[in-house]
Amino acid sequence: MGDKVHIVEVGPRDGLQNEPRIIPTAQKVELIDLLSRTGLEKIEAASFVSRRRVPQMADGAEVLAAISRRPGVAYGALVPNLKGYERARAAGADEVAVFVSASEGFSQKNINCSIADSLVRLRAVAAAANAGRVPVRGYVSCVVACPYDGPTPAEAVAALTTALLDMGCYQVSLGDTIGAGSPASVARMLDAVLCVTPARVLAGHYHNTGGAAVRNIGVSLERGLRTFDSSIAGLGGCPFAPGAPGNVATSTVAAYLAELGYEPGLDAACLAEAEQFALEIKGASP
Ligand code: HMG
Ligand code: MG
Repeated sequence: MGDKVHIVEVGPRDGLQNEPRIIPTAQKVELIDLLSRTGLEKIEAASFVSRRRVPQMADGAEVLAAISRRPGVAYGALVPNLKGYERARAAGADEVAVFVSASEGFSQKNINCSIADSLVRLRAVAAAANAGRVPVRGYVSCVVACPYDGPTPAEAVAALTTALLDMGCYQVSLGDTIGAGSPASVARMLDAVLCVTPARVLAGHYHNTGGAAVRNIGVSLERGLRTFDSSIAGLGGCPFAPGAPGNVATSTVAAYLAELGYEPGLDAACLAEAEQFALEIKGASP
Protein backbone atom coordinates (compact mmCIF):
# COMPACT_ATOMS: atom_id res chain seq x y z
CA MET A 1 0.00 0.00 0.00
CA GLY A 2 3.00 2.24 0.61
CA ASP A 3 0.91 4.22 3.07
CA LYS A 4 2.90 5.54 6.03
CA VAL A 5 1.47 4.68 9.41
CA HIS A 6 2.94 6.46 12.43
CA ILE A 7 3.57 4.75 15.73
CA VAL A 8 3.79 6.89 18.86
CA GLU A 9 5.74 5.07 21.54
CA VAL A 10 4.17 5.63 24.96
CA GLY A 11 5.89 2.88 26.96
CA PRO A 12 8.23 5.13 28.97
CA ARG A 13 5.18 7.05 30.21
CA ASP A 14 2.00 4.96 29.95
CA GLY A 15 3.90 1.74 30.54
CA LEU A 16 6.24 2.70 33.34
CA GLN A 17 3.61 4.72 35.22
CA ASN A 18 1.84 1.41 35.87
CA GLU A 19 4.83 -0.64 36.94
CA PRO A 20 4.52 -1.68 40.57
CA ARG A 21 8.05 -0.64 41.45
CA ILE A 22 9.65 2.69 40.68
CA ILE A 23 12.08 2.13 37.82
CA PRO A 24 15.48 3.80 38.39
CA THR A 25 16.03 6.91 36.27
CA ALA A 26 19.06 5.40 34.55
CA GLN A 27 16.98 2.47 33.29
CA LYS A 28 14.29 4.78 31.93
CA VAL A 29 16.99 6.75 30.14
CA GLU A 30 18.53 3.59 28.69
CA LEU A 31 15.12 2.42 27.48
CA ILE A 32 14.36 5.76 25.80
CA ASP A 33 17.83 5.80 24.19
CA LEU A 34 17.24 2.31 22.79
CA LEU A 35 13.83 3.37 21.50
CA SER A 36 15.38 6.44 19.88
CA ARG A 37 17.41 4.16 17.61
CA THR A 38 14.43 2.22 16.27
CA GLY A 39 13.15 4.81 13.80
CA LEU A 40 10.31 6.00 16.02
CA GLU A 41 9.54 9.68 15.47
CA LYS A 42 7.70 10.34 18.71
CA ILE A 43 8.36 9.00 22.17
CA GLU A 44 6.24 10.02 25.16
CA ALA A 45 9.06 10.07 27.64
CA ALA A 46 7.57 11.33 30.90
CA SER A 47 4.64 12.90 32.65
CA PHE A 48 4.58 15.95 34.89
CA VAL A 49 1.77 15.18 37.29
CA SER A 50 1.49 15.12 41.06
CA ARG A 51 4.38 13.05 42.42
CA ARG A 52 2.17 11.96 45.28
CA ARG A 53 -0.39 10.53 42.85
CA VAL A 54 2.09 8.93 40.44
CA PRO A 55 5.48 8.48 42.13
CA GLN A 56 6.66 6.36 39.17
CA MET A 57 6.86 9.54 37.06
CA ALA A 58 8.39 11.89 39.64
CA ASP A 59 11.80 11.96 37.91
CA GLY A 60 10.56 13.29 34.54
CA ALA A 61 12.95 16.24 34.54
CA GLU A 62 15.94 14.02 35.32
CA VAL A 63 14.91 11.61 32.56
CA LEU A 64 14.59 14.34 29.94
CA ALA A 65 17.91 15.87 31.02
CA ALA A 66 19.80 12.59 30.68
CA ILE A 67 18.50 11.08 27.43
CA SER A 68 20.57 11.29 24.25
CA ARG A 69 18.30 13.23 21.97
CA ARG A 70 18.30 11.91 18.47
CA PRO A 71 17.58 14.37 15.65
CA GLY A 72 14.18 13.67 14.12
CA VAL A 73 12.73 12.26 17.31
CA ALA A 74 10.28 14.35 19.35
CA TYR A 75 10.30 13.65 23.08
CA GLY A 76 6.88 14.39 24.55
CA ALA A 77 5.45 14.69 28.05
CA LEU A 78 1.97 14.26 29.47
CA VAL A 79 0.72 17.24 31.49
CA PRO A 80 -2.55 17.74 33.44
CA ASN A 81 -2.38 21.50 34.03
CA LEU A 82 -0.27 24.66 33.61
CA LYS A 83 2.08 23.63 36.41
CA GLY A 84 2.80 20.42 34.52
CA TYR A 85 3.21 22.33 31.29
CA GLU A 86 5.76 24.66 32.83
CA ARG A 87 7.68 21.76 34.38
CA ALA A 88 7.66 19.90 31.06
CA ARG A 89 8.97 22.88 29.13
CA ALA A 90 11.64 23.64 31.72
CA ALA A 91 12.74 20.02 31.34
CA GLY A 92 12.98 20.41 27.57
CA ALA A 93 9.96 18.40 26.38
CA ASP A 94 9.57 18.93 22.62
CA GLU A 95 5.81 18.62 22.81
CA VAL A 96 3.13 18.08 25.42
CA ALA A 97 0.01 15.97 25.65
CA VAL A 98 -3.12 16.89 27.58
CA PHE A 99 -5.83 14.45 28.58
CA VAL A 100 -9.54 14.53 29.28
CA SER A 101 -11.86 11.70 30.24
CA ALA A 102 -15.10 10.98 28.38
CA SER A 103 -16.58 9.74 31.65
CA GLU A 104 -17.09 11.68 34.86
CA GLY A 105 -16.16 8.74 37.07
CA PHE A 106 -12.68 8.35 35.61
CA SER A 107 -12.15 12.11 35.47
CA GLN A 108 -12.76 12.36 39.21
CA LYS A 109 -10.59 9.37 40.08
CA ASN A 110 -7.77 10.29 37.71
CA ILE A 111 -7.46 14.04 38.10
CA ASN A 112 -9.86 14.86 40.92
CA CYS A 113 -12.14 17.16 38.94
CA SER A 114 -15.08 17.15 36.54
CA ILE A 115 -14.75 16.93 32.77
CA ALA A 116 -15.86 20.57 32.45
CA ASP A 117 -13.29 21.81 34.99
CA SER A 118 -10.54 19.77 33.32
CA LEU A 119 -11.32 21.42 29.97
CA VAL A 120 -10.75 24.83 31.59
CA ARG A 121 -7.30 23.68 32.76
CA LEU A 122 -6.49 22.16 29.38
CA ARG A 123 -7.48 25.31 27.52
CA ALA A 124 -4.93 27.20 29.63
CA VAL A 125 -2.25 24.64 28.74
CA ALA A 126 -3.15 24.69 25.05
CA ALA A 127 -3.13 28.51 24.98
CA ALA A 128 0.34 28.60 26.54
CA ALA A 129 1.60 25.90 24.20
CA ASN A 130 0.14 27.54 21.11
CA ALA A 131 1.63 30.89 22.14
CA GLY A 132 5.02 29.24 22.61
CA ARG A 133 4.69 27.24 19.37
CA VAL A 134 4.89 23.99 21.30
CA PRO A 135 2.92 21.19 19.64
CA VAL A 136 0.13 19.93 21.89
CA ARG A 137 -1.54 16.57 21.49
CA GLY A 138 -4.81 15.62 23.15
CA TYR A 139 -6.07 12.37 24.61
CA VAL A 140 -9.66 11.40 25.24
CA SER A 141 -9.77 8.56 27.78
CA CYS A 142 -12.39 5.87 28.34
CA VAL A 143 -13.62 6.19 24.75
CA VAL A 144 -15.39 2.82 24.90
CA ALA A 145 -16.02 2.20 28.58
CA CYS A 146 -15.16 3.52 32.00
CA PRO A 147 -14.26 1.33 34.97
CA TYR A 148 -16.63 3.40 37.14
CA ASP A 149 -19.45 4.54 34.83
CA GLY A 150 -19.73 1.64 32.35
CA PRO A 151 -20.14 2.11 28.59
CA THR A 152 -19.26 5.55 27.22
CA PRO A 153 -21.64 7.28 24.78
CA ALA A 154 -19.81 7.78 21.48
CA GLU A 155 -21.29 11.29 21.21
CA ALA A 156 -19.39 12.31 24.35
CA VAL A 157 -16.13 11.17 22.72
CA ALA A 158 -16.97 13.11 19.56
CA ALA A 159 -17.74 16.29 21.53
CA LEU A 160 -14.50 16.10 23.52
CA THR A 161 -12.47 15.41 20.40
CA THR A 162 -13.87 18.60 18.90
CA ALA A 163 -13.15 20.50 22.12
CA LEU A 164 -9.49 19.38 22.09
CA LEU A 165 -9.05 20.25 18.42
CA ASP A 166 -10.74 23.63 18.92
CA MET A 167 -8.32 24.52 21.70
CA GLY A 168 -5.38 23.85 19.35
CA CYS A 169 -4.39 20.20 19.72
CA TYR A 170 -2.81 19.02 16.48
CA GLN A 171 -4.10 15.48 17.00
CA VAL A 172 -6.45 13.64 19.32
CA SER A 173 -5.56 10.18 20.51
CA LEU A 174 -8.60 8.07 21.36
CA GLY A 175 -7.85 6.06 24.49
CA ASP A 176 -9.47 2.74 25.24
CA THR A 177 -8.01 3.14 28.69
CA ILE A 178 -9.14 -0.18 30.12
CA GLY A 179 -8.89 -2.19 26.90
CA ALA A 180 -12.60 -2.97 26.90
CA GLY A 181 -13.11 -2.27 23.20
CA SER A 182 -14.04 -4.79 20.55
CA PRO A 183 -13.80 -4.11 16.82
CA ALA A 184 -17.56 -3.47 16.84
CA SER A 185 -17.57 -1.04 19.77
CA VAL A 186 -14.44 0.77 18.54
CA ALA A 187 -15.97 1.06 15.07
CA ARG A 188 -19.16 2.56 16.54
CA MET A 189 -17.14 5.06 18.56
CA LEU A 190 -14.98 5.99 15.54
CA ASP A 191 -17.99 6.43 13.28
CA ALA A 192 -19.40 8.99 15.70
CA VAL A 193 -16.08 10.84 15.95
CA LEU A 194 -15.58 10.77 12.19
CA CYS A 195 -18.90 12.61 11.80
CA VAL A 196 -17.26 15.65 13.38
CA THR A 197 -13.61 15.42 12.37
CA PRO A 198 -11.39 13.90 9.67
CA ALA A 199 -9.38 10.72 10.34
CA ARG A 200 -6.05 12.45 9.70
CA VAL A 201 -6.21 14.27 13.05
CA LEU A 202 -7.02 11.13 15.04
CA ALA A 203 -4.89 8.44 16.63
CA GLY A 204 -5.82 5.13 18.24
CA HIS A 205 -4.57 4.37 21.77
CA TYR A 206 -5.77 0.90 22.52
CA HIS A 207 -4.87 -0.91 25.69
CA ASN A 208 -4.83 -4.65 25.14
CA THR A 209 -6.60 -5.98 28.22
CA GLY A 210 -9.24 -7.80 26.21
CA GLY A 211 -6.74 -8.91 23.55
CA ALA A 212 -8.54 -7.00 20.80
CA ALA A 213 -6.15 -4.07 20.37
CA VAL A 214 -4.73 -5.26 17.05
CA ARG A 215 -8.18 -5.88 15.60
CA ASN A 216 -9.22 -2.47 16.90
CA ILE A 217 -6.30 -0.99 14.98
CA GLY A 218 -7.62 -2.91 11.97
CA VAL A 219 -11.05 -1.24 12.06
CA SER A 220 -9.32 2.11 12.65
CA LEU A 221 -7.10 1.64 9.58
CA GLU A 222 -10.21 0.83 7.53
CA ARG A 223 -11.63 4.18 8.64
CA GLY A 224 -8.51 6.10 7.65
CA LEU A 225 -6.58 6.49 10.92
CA ARG A 226 -2.84 6.44 10.34
CA THR A 227 -1.40 7.00 13.82
CA PHE A 228 -1.39 4.49 16.67
CA ASP A 229 0.08 4.57 20.15
CA SER A 230 1.84 1.51 21.47
CA SER A 231 4.12 0.49 24.27
CA ILE A 232 7.41 -1.35 23.99
CA ALA A 233 6.95 -4.98 25.08
CA GLY A 234 3.35 -4.13 26.00
CA LEU A 235 4.61 -2.43 29.15
CA GLY A 236 1.90 -1.29 31.48
CA GLY A 237 0.25 -4.46 32.58
CA CYS A 238 0.68 -6.30 35.83
CA PRO A 239 3.71 -8.62 35.68
CA PHE A 240 1.71 -11.18 37.68
CA ALA A 241 -1.26 -11.11 35.31
CA PRO A 242 0.02 -12.09 31.87
CA GLY A 243 -3.56 -12.27 30.62
CA ALA A 244 -4.08 -8.59 31.37
CA PRO A 245 -1.39 -6.66 29.52
CA GLY A 246 -1.15 -2.87 29.21
CA ASN A 247 -0.79 -1.03 25.92
CA VAL A 248 -0.58 -3.00 22.73
CA ALA A 249 3.09 -3.93 22.14
CA THR A 250 5.05 -1.84 19.64
CA SER A 251 6.55 -4.87 17.88
CA THR A 252 3.06 -6.41 17.53
CA VAL A 253 1.75 -3.25 15.90
CA ALA A 254 4.80 -2.94 13.64
CA ALA A 255 4.46 -6.58 12.51
CA TYR A 256 0.73 -6.21 11.92
CA LEU A 257 1.20 -3.05 9.87
CA ALA A 258 3.98 -4.63 7.81
CA GLU A 259 1.77 -7.65 7.14
CA LEU A 260 -0.93 -5.34 5.79
CA GLY A 261 1.59 -3.57 3.55
CA TYR A 262 1.78 -0.35 5.53
CA GLU A 263 5.15 1.15 6.29
CA PRO A 264 5.83 1.70 9.99
CA GLY A 265 9.52 2.39 9.22
CA LEU A 266 11.01 0.73 12.29
CA ASP A 267 14.27 -1.22 12.50
CA ALA A 268 13.36 -4.71 13.67
CA ALA A 269 16.74 -5.46 15.31
CA CYS A 270 16.78 -2.18 17.27
CA LEU A 271 13.16 -2.76 18.26
CA ALA A 272 14.00 -6.26 19.51
CA GLU A 273 16.86 -4.84 21.58
CA ALA A 274 14.61 -2.21 23.16
CA GLU A 275 11.97 -4.85 23.78
CA GLN A 276 14.45 -7.15 25.47
CA PHE A 277 15.55 -4.34 27.76
CA ALA A 278 11.92 -3.42 28.55
CA LEU A 279 11.26 -7.03 29.50
CA GLU A 280 14.32 -7.00 31.75
CA ILE A 281 12.99 -3.89 33.49
CA LYS A 282 9.60 -5.51 33.87
CA GLY A 283 11.10 -8.79 35.03
CA ALA A 284 12.99 -6.95 37.73
CA SER A 285 9.70 -5.78 39.23
CA PRO A 286 8.74 -7.53 42.44
P1 HMG B 1 -5.30 17.27 42.85
O1 HMG B 1 -5.32 15.81 43.16
O2 HMG B 1 -6.62 17.88 42.49
O3 HMG B 1 -4.71 18.06 44.01
O4 HMG B 1 -4.28 17.45 41.66
P2 HMG B 1 -4.09 19.57 44.00
O5 HMG B 1 -4.47 20.35 42.79
O6 HMG B 1 -4.46 20.12 45.32
O7 HMG B 1 -2.54 19.24 43.96
C1 HMG B 1 -1.99 18.24 44.79
C2 HMG B 1 -0.50 18.42 44.82
O8 HMG B 1 0.01 18.18 43.52
C3 HMG B 1 -0.07 19.83 45.21
O9 HMG B 1 1.17 19.71 45.90
C4 HMG B 1 0.17 20.48 43.87
O10 HMG B 1 1.10 21.52 43.90
C5 HMG B 1 0.75 19.32 43.09
P3 HMG B 1 1.24 19.79 47.50
O11 HMG B 1 0.70 21.14 47.81
O12 HMG B 1 0.37 18.68 48.02
O13 HMG B 1 2.70 19.60 47.78
N1 HMG B 1 0.60 19.42 41.65
C6 HMG B 1 1.57 19.07 40.81
N2 HMG B 1 2.78 18.58 41.03
C7 HMG B 1 3.51 18.30 39.96
N3 HMG B 1 3.10 18.49 38.69
C8 HMG B 1 1.88 19.00 38.45
C9 HMG B 1 1.06 19.30 39.53
N4 HMG B 1 -0.17 19.80 39.65
C10 HMG B 1 -0.45 19.86 40.95
N5 HMG B 1 1.48 19.18 37.19
C11 HMG B 1 -3.67 16.57 39.52
C12 HMG B 1 -4.67 17.39 40.32
C13 HMG B 1 -4.21 16.49 38.11
C14 HMG B 1 -2.32 17.29 39.55
C15 HMG B 1 -3.52 15.16 40.15
O14 HMG B 1 -4.79 14.61 40.37
C16 HMG B 1 -2.68 14.22 39.32
O15 HMG B 1 -1.49 14.46 39.12
N6 HMG B 1 -3.25 13.10 38.85
C17 HMG B 1 -2.48 12.05 38.15
C18 HMG B 1 -3.09 11.82 36.81
C19 HMG B 1 -2.24 10.83 36.03
O16 HMG B 1 -1.06 10.99 35.84
N7 HMG B 1 -2.92 9.76 35.52
C20 HMG B 1 -2.29 8.83 34.63
C21 HMG B 1 -2.12 9.42 33.26
S1 HMG B 1 -3.65 9.48 32.31
C22 HMG B 1 -3.60 8.02 31.40
O17 HMG B 1 -2.78 7.19 31.66
C23 HMG B 1 -4.56 7.85 30.24
C24 HMG B 1 -3.86 7.95 28.88
O18 HMG B 1 -2.83 6.99 28.73
C25 HMG B 1 -4.87 7.74 27.74
C26 HMG B 1 -5.71 6.49 27.92
O19 HMG B 1 -5.16 5.39 28.12
O20 HMG B 1 -6.93 6.64 27.84
C27 HMG B 1 -3.25 9.34 28.68
MG1 MG C 1 -3.16 4.91 28.19
